Amino acid sequence: MKFAKLFSILSILFACSFSSNNTAPKNKEEFINDLINIMTLEEKIGQMVLFTSDWAVTGPSIRENYIDDIKSGKVGAIFNAYTAKYTRQLQQYAVENTRLHIPLLFGYDVIHGHKTIFPIPLGESCSWDLTAIERSARIAATEASADGINWTYAPMVDIGRDPRWGRVAEGAGEDTYLGSLIAAARVKGFQGNNNFKNNTSIIACAKHYAAYGAAQSGRDYNTVDMSENTLRDIYLPPFKACVDAGVKTFMTSFNELNGVPASGSSFLLKDILREEWGFKGFVVTDYTSINEMVNHGFASDEKNAGELAINAGVDMDMQGAVYYNYLKALTDEGKINITQIDKAVKNILEIKYDLGLFDDPYKYCDEERAAKDIMTKENLETARDIARKSMVLLKNENNILPLEKSGTIALIGPLADDQRNLIGNWSAAGDWKKSVSVLQGFKNAISDNATILYAKGANITDDKNLIKKLNDNGGDIIIDTRSPEQLIAEAMDVAKKSDVVVMVLGESQGMSGEAASRSDIGIPENQKKLLEAIHATGKPIVLLLMNGRPLTLSWEDENINAILETWFGGTESGNAIADIVFGDYNPSAKLTVTFPRTVGQIPIYYNYKNTGRPFDENSKYTSKYLDIANTPLYPFGYGLSYTTFAYTELKLNKNEFNFTDLITITVTIKNTGTRDGEEIVQLYIHDLVGSITRPVKELKGFNKIFLKAGESK
Ligand code: NOJ
Repeated sequence: MKFAKLFSILSILFACSFSSNNTAPKNKEEFINDLINIMTLEEKIGQMVLFTSDWAVTGPSIRENYIDDIKSGKVGAIFNAYTAKYTRQLQQYAVENTRLHIPLLFGYDVIHGHKTIFPIPLGESCSWDLTAIERSARIAATEASADGINWTYAPMVDIGRDPRWGRVAEGAGEDTYLGSLIAAARVKGFQGNNNFKNNTSIIACAKHYAAYGAAQSGRDYNTVDMSENTLRDIYLPPFKACVDAGVKTFMTSFNELNGVPASGSSFLLKDILREEWGFKGFVVTDYTSINEMVNHGFASDEKNAGELAINAGVDMDMQGAVYYNYLKALTDEGKINITQIDKAVKNILEIKYDLGLFDDPYKYCDEERAAKDIMTKENLETARDIARKSMVLLKNENNILPLEKSGTIALIGPLADDQRNLIGNWSAAGDWKKSVSVLQGFKNAISDNATILYAKGANITDDKNLIKKLNDNGGDIIIDTRSPEQLIAEAMDVAKKSDVVVMVLGESQGMSGEAASRSDIGIPENQKKLLEAIHATGKPIVLLLMNGRPLTLSWEDENINAILETWFGGTESGNAIADIVFGDYNPSAKLTVTFPRTVGQIPIYYNYKNTGRPFDENSKYTSKYLDIANTPLYPFGYGLSYTTFAYTELKLNKNEFNFTDLITITVTIKNTGTRDGEEIVQLYIHDLVGSITRPVKELKGFNKIFLKAGESK
């Protein structure tokens, strides 16, 4: 109540001070212009500064005294602070202590759920289900906004063609067309179709602009060098799709692109983003990426970096304090013009206005909402459904899956009775203790009808160096102190007593994500030894994988009976996995990223270009490896079902057409198996001849259809 009153007073103050005509209500343009007119330079710079709170660590530096900065109007937005109570308190510091009472924005990495955690975005993309993806973003926004957040640093729309790069986990895979549709669906979900009248829509942020996924050698933050053709053709369209969907903010990437760091690139930020695409929101940097232009060798010092960033079109500085420290001096020295600052401030204030924060700065600080909107039964059910829609069946020899809910099942592996890793990384305020382990999911599914024998079998890894790195960054790898031999012996004992063995192997959540590149993307060695030992018992094996990137699985594919890629499936992982394993759900997901046979094939993606000497096994001088096939182990678009589908009668409505013609392509799909199921029908084209060559295959359409056993569509 106190704040509502304060704000009605403020509105009157605003109306009286800024309107040329006190009786007419001001529109957004007038309101913002009037406000900017009375702001001091320091107040303007404050709006362009974003600091993290000390509630979460998502970068190399933490800033103390952010509360003093809020009170003195030196910061316009805070991230990594949440709960309606805490954001209310911080908001109160801003609106009650500063001269102009301008409210703060509250940002957070709500990437795949806030508390109800959905599958990692790469996993979710394998559902190819745009409605489900939009829905998960909507739920994430509803929960985050009930927890004080009004700005998410998502969607991450970087095309990822290199599985060594740990951040492939955060995106929608390797395809531009699908990635663009998913990007737009996520923006719509977060922003509630741009309806900011309610308090469940939050602003989204298209990141990381641009070409971050093309880091050389798959090493995070690394250099990117590519033709403008590839940039525009492959990497930029998902960002453009975000603009078209009305995304309110953009985040610059850490990498340099063709010699220019993204935070200093007026080519990216002005020429393309503002002029070509007409983007109207504001641009924030990634964490300290202005400062990092010094390390790149692009700026002589931080002050110079600030000058380059604002001149390039960066509106807000995340955590670097470069704008905070140097913008005033740069302006006083005439190195930057006040109109540039005014432009940036306007971009930021307009978004605060759109969110309705000038009407009610506490709009997102409703403490009653958390209890009723977070982790509701419906949200959890949706998470379970999306998780099972995201899991890809890679192999199913002799239809070993689904399993009967009877007999004795051995459940083995470091991830079999694990909760910590299921929610993946970038899991916002998600509480891993609330996630359903595979063991629990199995118990829920089979009740007393079958016996489950559990053994851990191995630690996630025995590599001490890796464990230290993961734990130093909050990885929480808990190590079983028994020797690898003891763990394997126990597991073999359990396997021998069982009819079938289900193994849950893969990565820990910290082995993918930011700063988590790997040069060997196999299942960790010690887990592989366990798998080999169990394989030697001769028992049938179902391998459930958890990981944030494609893995190299050649041995597993040759030797293991069934393989299900479950990614990190979120809060409801165990239930969703059990749904598939026991046949209560028929898997329908298809890979959105290529699984290579070996690391040596990387980068490998489905939409490659032909060479002048295409592969021919009978001819020496063709494009190939001496030691391995060119083809991947599992291609983009691949995934099995418990039923089978036949494609017949592929028809075009005409065989000749010109550039403006529409072509209708029809195909009949029949469910030829005995179970109902969903099929993702994919349309690829190959433009045979062009003045610029085109890939051998390009996805241009798809449709996910449900067919009853025997049914055709
Ligand atoms: C760095 C990451 O690159 C970015 O994705 C994230 O949004 C920010 N840190 C804030 O946590």
